[in-house]
Amino acid sequence: MASYYRRVFRPSIREYLHVIPGKKSVFGLAKLVWNLVKPNAVTYPVIVCVLTTKCSLKCAHCNNLMPCFDKPYHIPADQVISDIRTLLSHTDYCIKLELLGGEPFVYPELGKVIDAFKDHPKVMCIAFTTNATVIPDEALLDQIAALKCKKIVISDYGVPTQKPDEFMAACKAKGIPCSHTVSEYWADPGNTECRGKGKAQLAMEYNQCYSSRYCRTMLNGKIYTCARASSLADLGLMDGEHDSFDIRKPRTDKEFRKELRKFLTIDYADACNYCDHAKRIRIPAGEQLQ
Ligand SMILES: C[S@@+](CC[C@H](N)C(=O)[O-])C[C@H]1O[C@@H](n2cnc3c(N)ncnc32)[C@H](O)[C@@H]1O
Ligand code: SF4
Ligand code: SF4
Repeated sequence: MASYYRRVFRPSIREYLHVIPGKKSVFGLAKLVWNLVKPNAVTYPVIVCVLTTKCSLKCAHCNNLMPCFDKPYHIPADQVISDIRTLLSHTDYCIKLELLGGEPFVYPELGKVIDAFKDHPKVMCIAFTTNATVIPDEALLDQIAALKCKKIVISDYGVPTQKPDEFMAACKAKGIPCSHTVSEYWADPGNTECRGKGKAQLAMEYNQCYSSRYCRTMLNGKIYTCARASSLADLGLMDGEHDSFDIRKPRTDKEFRKELRKFLTIDYADACNYCDHAKRIRIPAGEQLQ
């Protein structure tokens, strides 16, 4: 129960009250609380959905390991849509659906995915995090502007190909909430070797990490404990069995909800054995590989 409160209940309330834009009502909050506590409830604070492993930058210490993909690829929109639909069909609410990459604005089918969830009654907000190297065209901006709740966050690493001011101006012209974060420092995630940490250490690191609550990540039909976990598994650098929930496995609604709740509250992630985040070593953000 304590882990449900820490990993699901509290993050959901925080996302609703403090992260997604728009007016909140007492009725809205009460409805959310009910959908968090009723029997077999499954409400998600955030679903991060990887649309592509392609990126327009090559950050040396990308926590999501995008520069490690020798053959980066786009995930077909039909597959992404079908997996999110399956997940939502067994879920009460998703506070924030984050469409991510790599770089989400290099994904050619972004409009199709947005269209599929624009009026979904269980998705409260659709969000994007971008490096602002690619300015979306008018049609895509109009689609984003038409969403009932949307949010774009620009990560600015000071790389010359980034155009944060132009991106912000384009969003402002369409009334899209957009924030510009100048990222000076990152935490060094280190290399992709297994560190050989024991379960108690892994549990401590996983429980302390922001990603374990706000970055559960969907890739190719599975939800992983965090975005680094999804990349490690997809790159074949880690066995992702423990750290993932298979959306496509046939189950009844009751089984799906039960197993998903169990996954949302697991004690540790194998991925933390391939990550140095807990050491909190500061490095300059967005340093580029040659
Ligand atoms: C992986 S990026 C994907 C979206 C987009 N390409 C971007 O850079 O904004 C998602 C977020 O992860 C952050 N990030 C990547 N590597 C990180 C690290 N080592 N430590 C902390 N944050 C990191 C980025 O700054 C960004 O806000
Ligand atoms: S952090 Fe850098 S390399 Fe990683 S996805 Fe974002 S822009 Fe690409
Ligand atoms: S691997 Fe573990 S420590 Fe690293 S980002 Fe993911 S949850 Fe956090």
